[in-house]
Amino acid sequence: MLAIRHHEFGKPTDVLRVEDVDAPLPEVGAVRVRLLAAALNPSDYGMIAGSYGRLRELPAIAGREGVGVIDALGAHVSGWEVGQWVRFPGDDGAWCEYACASANHLVAVPKGVPLEQAALSFVNPPTAFCLLTKIVSLKGGDWIVQNASNSAVGVAVIQLAKSMGIHTINLVRREELIDPLRDLGADHVVLEGSDWTRATEAMTNGAPIRLALNSIGGESAIDQIKVLGKGGTQVTFGGMVGDKVRFPTRFLIFNDVRLVGFWWDNWSRENGLDAVRSVLNQVYRYMSEGSLKIPISGNYPFSQFSDALAHDKSPRLGKILLHPDS
Ligand SMILES: NC(=O)c1ccc[n+]([C@@H]2O[C@H](COP(=O)([O-])OP(=O)(O)OC[C@H]3O[C@@H](n4cnc5c(N)ncnc54)[C@H](OP(=O)(O)O)[C@@H]3O)[C@@H](O)[C@H]2O)c1
Repeated sequence: MLAIRHHEFGKPTDVLRVEDVDAPLPEVGAVRVRLLAAALNPSDYGMIAGSYGRLRELPAIAGREGVGVIDALGAHVSGWEVGQWVRFPGDDGAWCEYACASANHLVAVPKGVPLEQAALSFVNPPTAFCLLTKIVSLKGGDWIVQNASNSAVGVAVIQLAKSMGIHTINLVRREELIDPLRDLGADHVVLEGSDWTRATEAMTNGAPIRLALNSIGGESAIDQIKVLGKGGTQVTFGGMVGDKVRFPTRFLIFNDVRLVGFWWDNWSRENGLDAVRSVLNQVYRYMSEGSLKIPISGNYPFSQFSDALAHDKSPRLGKILLHPDS
């Protein structure tokens, strides 16, 4: 089978190769899954570079998210059928044609979820769902602020928040994103660095901002802390800028602001597979009824993965997907 692999950690364009490797066979109690579509995510770059919180042994298959179809059952597997869509077993890499997993560890994708949405459903939408439901107890009418609002997490937050009656202030770096994000349900979309922090009281009619979602860091994170209401919480779940966030002492003291972190991998490990399935089932409900839809920017076969990486690094609103060539 074909797999996109790396034999050393480094820049994806330097270290990734499409290679022919043996396809796995399902052992007793396991199934084999054929990849239908896989996602490109920022964490893939961290894993390929060797800088992520969890790394694979080398040589490693890259990628960690995708959807597949069960194409073979090992002995003594019950409750699963050939042809069912499931989360592609991505622990050992998702950018490959086949992978095997214990039947007990599979996550089913319900019928009615579109293929491209299913491929993107296992990391960013559940993260968005947890950010909105598991950090502070939000209720309808509450206000939140987020940066990187055109990211997959960002657009999922906008759409899920709208369904939950939560209002959003959304930061972006490009003006052309303002209208598309409003169309997805954003209440306000503002440009980073535009002095937007002075306008939040008018945006919320004086209501406090209870939660700030930070996946960037730097000045953007500091601006968010300035606009949080008393006792508000900032959750950091990404660091696209990569620099250290300066500690905004006065807001912690005088506004009792809380700074916390979130990592979906940790949450999944700590809460177990049933809790993960439960979050994903909520995500699938929104996807099936059409109120949650992650935009897609491009689809690429494995043989054109370099073009996919280049597209991923260019300005876009939507995710890039990889497919096996055949
Ligand atoms: N902790 C967790 O469990 C968890 C789970 C999922 C995702 N995440 C994190 O969430 C973030 C979004 O992931 P995603 O897959 O949704 O992203 P994505 O769809 O690939 O979009 C990338 C986003 O990052 C922004 N960005 C890239 N470089 C930037 C920079 N130097 N400064 C400011 N913004 C920059 C882009 O803005 P432009 O369009 O303006 O370039 C875009 O909004 C990432 O940091 C990711 O690691 C964390």
